Amino acid sequence: MENRSLLSLSVALLSFLSPCLTALTPRVSFHMGSPGRHVTRFSSPEVSNTSTLLLSEDEDILYVGARDAVLALDVSHQDAITLRSQLDWSPSDKDLEQCSMKGKEMADCPNFIRVLQFLNTTHIYACGTFAYSPRCSYITSETLMMSMKPDEGRGRCPYDPYQRNTAIIVDGELYTGTVADYRGNRPLISRHLSEGRRVDLKLDDTLGWLEDPTFISSSFIPEEEKIYFFFSEVGREYDFIDKFIVSRVSQICMSDVGGQRTLQRRWTTFAKAQLLCQADNELPYNVLQDIDSLPPAEGAPADDTLFYGIFTSQWSVGWTSIQSFHMFIT
Ligand SMILES: *[C@@H]1O[C@H](CO)[C@@H](O)[C@H](O)[C@H]1NC(C)=O
Ligand SMILES: *[C@@H]1O[C@H](CO)[C@@H](O)[C@H](O)[C@H]1NC(C)=O
Repeated sequence: MENRSLLSLSVALLSFLSPCLTALTPRVSFHMGSPGRHVTRFSSPEVSNTSTLLLSEDEDILYVGARDAVLALDVSHQDAITLRSQLDWSPSDKDLEQCSMKGKEMADCPNFIRVLQFLNTTHIYACGTFAYSPRCSYITSETLMMSMKPDEGRGRCPYDPYQRNTAIIVDGELYTGTVADYRGNRPLISRHLSEGRRVDLKLDDTLGWLEDPTFISSSFIPEEEKIYFFFSEVGREYDFIDKFIVSRVSQICMSDVGGQRTLQRRWTTFAKAQLLCQADNELPYNVLQDIDSLPPAEGAPADDTLFYGIFTSQWSVGWTSIQSFHMFIT
């Protein structure tokens, strides 16, 4: 029962949160158009529902995933953002018709781009909801041309454009957290595009590792060779409260190649822990909304990675807390 011991190990993943910082006023605020505070904007009547952003390493090009389109914007000039190239990627009329016949709103049937990651120095990997039938494609970063016929995107991208997902590519492999079925009740954390002796991996569905999660983001910590997934889900350990939402961090080791027998093609290093944001005498800020990480200074240990999270409360609309925290893996 290798799985069980892994489960108990997961409790050892400890996260430390500094006290909640609430009711802070921003250090800097200014009105749009204020002198010396130049804001550069880009908008186009044909571009809507922008959902994913990806900045090139040299920070000159911003790739944008939107509805039925991927754009490459030149952001290298301070005073203007210009469109460099655009890939139109929309479902055919027949696909749209089928989507609508399945009872979906026509407005939700376009291809909402939800995964946009660099695959290597020449290609971007992109996935979209594509009329509730997700597709993924290789796109050249220079010209935004599709270099192959799109693949099926099941397990890589949500079907439903209102479902949140997260994806990160490390060493040419795609790590994703998304819902992997049309009806939206099969959440999955999985690895794709593995080659050679490395195989694609996923969570075992039958063990209930995830409980109706909302995926928020994922981070790669190079020194630890780990991928972290951040999400919120229903906390089954709190069965005295109806549907108590709990924020989580889970980890996966990149060296994972799955296990034996029933664990073939399944993660053997998956572990999750709770992220608790709570000030004294207050209800917890239990719903993670977004997270970002600040890598440690050069030469500093990986433990110095600083995470910033935005949390809200399940019970109080409008309450928000911003947290910064380190994670210690014990
Ligand atoms: C990047 O990946 C694509 C798709 O697999 C491949 O065709 C291309 O040759 C790769 N480029 C490099 C520089 O490895
Ligand atoms: C797309 O944008 C429109 C207009 O802002 C909005 O009403 C709609 O909900 C968006 N669709 C998705 C899937 O986010």
